[in-house]
Amino acid sequence: MSTLYTAPAKINLSLRVRNKLREDGYHEVDLLMAPLDLHDTLEFHNSRTTTLLCDSPGIPTDESNLVLRAVREFEKHYGRKAKQRITLTKQIPHGAGLGGGSADAAVTLRALNEQLGTQYDGEELLEMAAALGSDVPFFLNPVISRCTGRGEIVTPLPELAGWSSPVVLLKPAFGVSTPTAYKALTCSRRHRTVNYGVQRVDDLTLINDLERPVFAKFPVLGLMKMWLAEQEGVRAAMMSGSGSALFALTETPEQAQAVASAAHEAWGASLFTYCGRVNPQ
Ligand code: C5P
Repeated sequence: MSTLYTAPAKINLSLRVRNKLREDGYHEVDLLMAPLDLHDTLEFHNSRTTTLLCDSPGIPTDESNLVLRAVREFEKHYGRKAKQRITLTKQIPHGAGLGGGSADAAVTLRALNEQLGTQYDGEELLEMAAALGSDVPFFLNPVISRCTGRGEIVTPLPELAGWSSPVVLLKPAFGVSTPTAYKALTCSRRHRTVNYGVQRVDDLTLINDLERPVFAKFPVLGLMKMWLAEQEGVRAAMMSGSGSALFALTETPEQAQAVASAAHEAWGASLFTYCGRVNPQ
């Protein structure tokens, strides 16, 4: 028998970074993270060995994949082999700042805990998740949350639980490396034509401190952000995480669809686009 799990993507509605590097090599952050209705699917099946299969040719299925790293982290606590055949179906683009790999890793920890009947509690799963990556703890319970520390201290925000918005995502064919984006924080310049400032939607304050270093290296992302901001019905336009995905919150789902169609015309057919909802109810 196999069991199916879904791993939702996230966007950062806000991403603030303190410029000073911590002793452990990370930056202190303050994030507003919200789930999307875009998700990967993982199927778990008991097996004699652990294997990972993936439908996307660009995704490695060796030990470097966060799903297998999550299995190994789980096995360290379990003290035995997990022995699962895992089939990963990707919808979330890679190198996008949408948390695809982290979401898959968190679901793997939750799934193994259920499939193997280990009953590790939230604290133990959090410890395993934080060892895998700063964003992974959020995905153990992907509800709209504030994340602090290096991103691993997650505080759900019940006061925002009822908030939702139509969204359109744009992602060019290239991805952005997260460590490179953080490393460039101190030495990057601003483009005069790009608005990096605070945007307000309902009671939310949207800003992303990684836009400055990432747009310095990939000026096309700054141009795309400003193009998005000018489209009809767009309430706010920003980069998610360290990019390369950009998102726009729109007033209606139809406006999100219209922006996605116009984006293919303006930026080429190879652009990934997605229309859906942030914080789906
Ligand atoms: O934790 P994660 O593996 O996702 O982080 C990838 C890299 O991003 C880190 O090695 C670090 O260079 C950078 N990072 C950071 N500060 C954070 C999160 C990530 O400098 N809060």
